[in-house]
Amino acid sequence: MFSGFMNWVDARFPASKMWREHLSEYYAPKNFNFWYFFGSLALLVLVIQIVTGIFLTMNYKPDAALAFASVEYIMRDVPWGWLIRYMHSTGASAFFIVVYLHMFRGLIYGSYKQPRELVWLFGMLIYLVLMAEAFMGYLLPWGQMSYWGAQVIISLFGAIPFIGEQLALWIRGDFVVADATLNRFFAFHVIALPIVLLGLVVAHIIALHEVGSNNPDGVEIKKLKNKEGKPLDGIPFHPYYTVKDIVGVIVFLFIFSLVLFYMPEMGGWFLEHANFIPADPLKTPEHIAPVWYFTPFYAILRAVPSINASAFPGVVAMGLSIVFLFLLPWLDRSPVKSIRYRGPYFKIALTLFIISFLVLGFLGTQPATELYTLIAQISSVIYFAFFIFMPFYTKFDKDKPVPERVTS
Ligand code: HEM
Repeated sequence: MFSGFMNWVDARFPASKMWREHLSEYYAPKNFNFWYFFGSLALLVLVIQIVTGIFLTMNYKPDAALAFASVEYIMRDVPWGWLIRYMHSTGASAFFIVVYLHMFRGLIYGSYKQPRELVWLFGMLIYLVLMAEAFMGYLLPWGQMSYWGAQVIISLFGAIPFIGEQLALWIRGDFVVADATLNRFFAFHVIALPIVLLGLVVAHIIALHEVGSNNPDGVEIKKLKNKEGKPLDGIPFHPYYTVKDIVGVIVFLFIFSLVLFYMPEMGGWFLEHANFIPADPLKTPEHIAPVWYFTPFYAILRAVPSINASAFPGVVAMGLSIVFLFLLPWLDRSPVKSIRYRGPYFKIALTLFIISFLVLGFLGTQPATELYTLIAQISSVIYFAFFIFMPFYTKFDKDKPVPERVTS
């Protein structure tokens, strides 16, 4: 009966063909390790965010006079509302943790390199949209940090010469962050950006399946095939990696639940303390800091001195810090992908880069004292040096020979 039904479907929609192409006959390298969990986990968190978001929308009110109280209502009165809200707010941080680890994997195994440049570019676009999505979502509870964080970030557009002021006004829809801003951010957060995000994730995976996955050895498994034309070092994604990914999902859900039930605000890291105070346009909080996932870029912004009281140079530096990530496939000139066979220059550069990123991330959460600003400046220089000098140190590095086949 089932095969009869599938024949009927297949004559009208390529269901079995897609199952084969993307799962049962999609050959993935047999040596995937820990770092390969995070793609499927990012998909899981995406689904969690969409499902919990839909339920939050049922009781949330996108109105400056009602928003804060509607979130409190969800937390206190809506059955299981607290769980849905905390899943969504913890999910936002989990999303960035997973995506940062996923990107780090790309860096250590050179997954951005030819022929996966488009996989990387779609990934970077996902990352950009994800940042916009998180930023707009954070305004919605209309707490002090929602309000003032948005005020600071939107004002940055005002630093752009000539058009800046008009642009900031256009984004806010008012002279300060106000009801109009909340309404449009809501529209972007619940519908416009999620659609774009989903489209980009589909493009990301189609691009990946076109070229095939990289792996911890950075060898192309498509080069060596058996008589049936299957890669010698490949195994069908289903059942092998579906089962492996389920293990990752269970461990992830375990950790996620621990955070969710025992420390959903993570001591102010996932939801800042000031955001439990309703937005007050007349009272600026003493210390305004974005949520942790934005802080490396915020620290770069603050590290660059203003010119004529204009923050424009900082804004440019912050923009460039992300633009450089897009350019990675063309900056890296080593023929070797995986860190296992890279020479010392790349290993040192990557280590310094990661340290600078973490230091910037910490500094972005702290008030900008003189000492911290100096450290942020040094870290920013290291951050940019990683990219600017990459064409040179990757070209002249003492790479090791890469094996023919994977070494699991
Ligand atoms: C919503 C966010 C994202 C989702 C759902 C997602 C999903 C996936 C999935 C399912 C895979 C295949 C499994 C794996 O290799 O782990 C993958 C691979 C990959 N992703 Fe993502 N991704 C996301 C964001 C990103 C970002 C932000 C980047 C980098 C800028 C990125 C870069 C890559 C690369 C380079 C690969 C190929 C890795 C390899 O073959 O070694 N992804 N992604």
